Amino acid sequence: MNQKTAVAGANIALLKYWGRTDAKLNLPANGSVSLTLDNLLTRTTVEFDPASKGDSLTLDGKAQTGEVLARVTRFLDHVRKRTGRSDAARVASVNAFPAGAGLASSASAFAALAAASFDAAGTKVSAKELSTFARLGSGSASRSVFGGYVEWLPGARHEDSYARQIAAPGHLALHDVACIFSGEKKKVGSLEGHELADRSPIHGTRLKWVNDALPRMKEAILTKDLGSIGDLAERDALFMHSVMMTSDPSVLYWTGETVRGIRDVRSWRDEGIPVWFTIDAGPNLHLLTPAEHAPDVVRRARTTWGLSKEQVIDSAPGEGVRAVEDHLF
Ligand code: PMV
Repeated sequence: MNQKTAVAGANIALLKYWGRTDAKLNLPANGSVSLTLDNLLTRTTVEFDPASKGDSLTLDGKAQTGEVLARVTRFLDHVRKRTGRSDAARVASVNAFPAGAGLASSASAFAALAAASFDAAGTKVSAKELSTFARLGSGSASRSVFGGYVEWLPGARHEDSYARQIAAPGHLALHDVACIFSGEKKKVGSLEGHELADRSPIHGTRLKWVNDALPRMKEAILTKDLGSIGDLAERDALFMHSVMMTSDPSVLYWTGETVRGIRDVRSWRDEGIPVWFTIDAGPNLHLLTPAEHAPDVVRRARTTWGLSKEQVIDSAPGEGVRAVEDHLF
């Protein structure tokens, strides 16, 4: 057996990727910055098998068909082309996400798949090249190749659009407390959403703002300036959602719980608690807070919003993608 396995963590963007210049290559309209998380992990095993006719995929033990399998096959085709392999692959993947969280992550999924499939093909690639390939699966996966604080350079060609580490996980103990108001599958997925971005009249204004915010965010991370990290992250989340809401057609991911949550986080901050929110393509809040305040923020989220243990997930900065030996088959 020549199966290989990799583990990758999800990441939360502090400056977001929203909109693309090339939909096929997932070249983003802007650079982004993220934090890789230690608690939302995907483990994936890949084996190339000359005897098998087509690719196969199981997710959390369930065999997949249709678009889910087709997306993995399209990704594996890039790897086959690069490595010269022509065999079909057997892929198994499990998410070590708290049950019922509804937080399935394409970032950790494609970062783990990229690493395991190159390894299984017997081709060594640099972390930078691995990041370009993870990006072909899902843009944000380019960032999960690296641990800690990460930036994704947008680039104008496949080879130039990759992520790199800004600071290691141990540099700054910023936690992400994910508050899952709803685990429902979203009606407009991020792939579709990216296509709508330039149908908002304020998309260009946001891109200018993000380009100006990128060096400020990196500086804030390097100098451990939590206030600036939180302020920039919160503003960009609001800016990205403003682009979503003002696209044609409009995409509104928020629910009443999102708005109530935003108001509560701001009043906790007025009480002196260093906590900021960010929001991905969904209704759920991610609360950014230093490690020492995480237990209090978890408690407040649970009691104020009536969330269960499984609906509030506290993650510390995590490592980048890595090979492991505990194969899934
Ligand atoms: O990688 P995708 O296509 O799922 O896009 C991610 C989009 C956001 O999560 C909203 C922002 C980001 O930068 O992660």
